[in-house]
Amino acid sequence: MTPEKAKELLKQYGQEHLLKYFDELGEEERAGLLGQIAGIDFKKVSGLFLTASGAAAKDSEEHRYEPLPFTDKKDLSKEEIASLEKKGGEIISNGGFAALTMAGGQGTRLGHNGPKGTYDIGLPGHPSLFEIQCGRLLAASKKFGKTIPWYIMTSRENDRETKEFFKANGFFGYPEEDIKFFVQNMLPMVAFDGKIVLDRKDHVKEGADGHGGVFAALKSSGCYADMLKRGVKWIFIGGIDNVLLKLCDPLLVGFAAAYGAKIAAKSLVKRDAREGVGVFCRRDGKPYVIEYTEISEEMADARREDGSFLYGDAHVLCNLFSIESIGAILDSGDGLPYHVAKKKTQFVDEDGTVTVPEKPNAYKFEAFIFDAFEYFGDIAILRVDRESEFAPVKNREGSDSPETARLMYEENQRRENEQR
Ligand code: UTP
Repeated sequence: MTPEKAKELLKQYGQEHLLKYFDELGEEERAGLLGQIAGIDFKKVSGLFLTASGAAAKDSEEHRYEPLPFTDKKDLSKEEIASLEKKGGEIISNGGFAALTMAGGQGTRLGHNGPKGTYDIGLPGHPSLFEIQCGRLLAASKKFGKTIPWYIMTSRENDRETKEFFKANGFFGYPEEDIKFFVQNMLPMVAFDGKIVLDRKDHVKEGADGHGGVFAALKSSGCYADMLKRGVKWIFIGGIDNVLLKLCDPLLVGFAAAYGAKIAAKSLVKRDAREGVGVFCRRDGKPYVIEYTEISEEMADARREDGSFLYGDAHVLCNLFSIESIGAILDSGDGLPYHVAKKKTQFVDEDGTVTVPEKPNAYKFEAFIFDAFEYFGDIAILRVDRESEFAPVKNREGSDSPETARLMYEENQRRENEQR
């Protein structure tokens, strides 16, 4: 893009300030900035800002919420579990299964210097979060006699470092040709006055477009085509920060296939009415995850006669998508909706000084993977035990921290050893 073309485009959207310092920049910096400008969908961004700032009409529709049926693993007999695991195991052995790790997040709460997957929670041998996941997939590949294709989503901010980390560690013994890294898209952050943020004179502040960006990125990267080529039928999609994540669980795969739904997920019972997790429900008849920030107190507190929560099944990024469901999401046209968060971000002020604000100063836009559930009539929910499947690393200290995750990991290993 030429500077003239960029000026014209920016004028159209009231974003001329992005070139305010252009004349001060060196050749490389200019090229970088023009490249960023060329990659921004300004129409989309201005629409997102209007909605975020309340200038555009909000969804004021009244929705109808109902509980979503689930199957509790505890209620399955030993024979049922064995039969579902056998079914799932056959799919995995036949090459019909792939795992996908979403590792494009910024990990702001953890505050680790580097991709979150490189974090060491202090286990013996000091495996990183990536190595823990890799170990599980290596074990499953061995058990089922088939290397499981592993897709890893990064962002432009951490892609290079992530790849270097794998390379430096010999891919943790995983066949290199079966790991595919792909980069998710970014969206610029927008200040509360509607101006896209420059965080340096030569740089637009962009953020990863949320874990819901996984579908578009699968397509644009060619990974979706790669899955089709390999004959993958089911794709497990999880995050990088749950150290108990079972990336290849034959029970979930067999359960989804037997259930006959196009999508499946594991759930956990929420700890208490106010736990900061989204819960499964039906919204206007479709599967939906209602965020803790959206749910009414009445819904959050509602209980069945036996005292259990009516909306008690938490969504914890443990999802299984059939390849057809991904095709359907990609064909749906509009893409997933964006959610808005107010964040603090460095910016270049009026005088050209780089400033770090003390309060949130800009909107960040993110799509959430679970908004894709609404495209389907049903979802197969398998409720599992929190202690053996969920130990997240979110915060530096306190709850959901490296310390709590390490303790849960070790406790889980102790239990597994006892059962052997
Ligand atoms: P979180 O929403 O917890 O975000 O991501 P985060 O980046 O890890 O941490 P904070 O909120 O900045 O502190 C849950 C999972 O989704 C991935 C993350 O890498 C993590 O595995 N994710 C999130 C992405 O891959 N891309 C995104 O844009 C957002």
